[in-house]
Amino acid sequence: MFEQLDVAPPDKILALIDLYRADTRANKVDLGVGVYRDRDGNTPVMRAVRKAEERLLNTQDTKTYLGLAGDVGFNAAMSGLVFGNSVEMSRVRVAQAPGGSGALRLIGELLHRTRPGATIWVSRPTWPNHIPTMRGAGLQVAEYAYFDAASGTVDFEAMLIDLAKAKSGDIVLLHGCCHNPTGANLTITQWQRVAGLLAERGLLPFVDIAYQGFGDGLEADAEGLRIVAAKVPEMVVASSCSKNFAVYRDRVGAAMVLARNVAQADIAISHMLAAARALYSMPPDHGAAAVRIVLDDAALRSDWRAELEDMRQRMLRLRVAFADALRRQSNSDRFDFIAEHRGMFSRLGLTEAQINRLRDEHAVYMVGDSRINVAGLPEARLDDLAKAIVSVL
Ligand code: LMR
Repeated sequence: MFEQLDVAPPDKILALIDLYRADTRANKVDLGVGVYRDRDGNTPVMRAVRKAEERLLNTQDTKTYLGLAGDVGFNAAMSGLVFGNSVEMSRVRVAQAPGGSGALRLIGELLHRTRPGATIWVSRPTWPNHIPTMRGAGLQVAEYAYFDAASGTVDFEAMLIDLAKAKSGDIVLLHGCCHNPTGANLTITQWQRVAGLLAERGLLPFVDIAYQGFGDGLEADAEGLRIVAAKVPEMVVASSCSKNFAVYRDRVGAAMVLARNVAQADIAISHMLAAARALYSMPPDHGAAAVRIVLDDAALRSDWRAELEDMRQRMLRLRVAFADALRRQSNSDRFDFIAEHRGMFSRLGLTEAQINRLRDEHAVYMVGDSRINVAGLPEARLDDLAKAIVSVL
């Protein structure tokens, strides 16, 4: 049967996990997969999440099915976290999903049901998994210009020119904050212009918000999404708790629809749940239940926010310190953009040959497009790392 197949190409980000693990060099540096690390290189369970898990263990007396939408308390808390007070919640419906990727796919399935083979515009570049996830749901993928590699900033005029080519009914995928892989984000004024353009041209916004709280703060990171939500009649959102609750392997995400009215909201969620039934039936409960407990308890919620804020501040400090080290070692301002970017990632602008040399000669691992995970930067060895990078330029 399987002689028809060639081996599938590995995922470029996830393949780094195995390569890094197999490397026995003591000084190895992992700037690959988007996982937060503390100064010791660990990714701990967050304090509030651990307490919520203890509570869950002590009080949960059944593991019977919850239903296709998962934990409805989690869903309500997540829509509040994302939309704030920007929209009437009667128009919002949420399905708990297996991680941000599961949420993306569920929404893709809904979009394909309502407009088979519709075109979805993604930023160039975007998170690599966006493309197979949307194609897997049956959508056509087109790209809009986004990043100017020379300046390390958003090429906003080019983005507007490309979005003007989209046809009414097309979908536009936007990173809510902390653009992955570039770290370059829209300003509030730019969000307002994009929101206006989407509304005028009848384009459906699809916001992927996987890093809320990692950029400018929990509320500030949702501001662009909320500007869009207040402007357009309908939109869809995929959100993830992998990073901001550090529940990566538990697979916790939410697929949300903001519909024109209550009746359309009900129709949309019925299709998302039907799609879920065919894909995996019901989402895993544990992580979402823990997140719900955190968000519904004032003390746990505030402790979670404090720890998340510490993580964000650490990444900001690392950005500044690494940009300084690169300035010292390269005698240039070529990498200053790292300090301006927000979120977990920046793209260094290295070639594949340079990235391979960094891995082979210096045990430094980064994604093949030169994306680095800022949280993986070794705080005590930033100058060594900068020197290694400069040596391959
Ligand atoms: C990343 O971009 O590194 C993370 O979102 C992990 C993943 O699944 O790719």
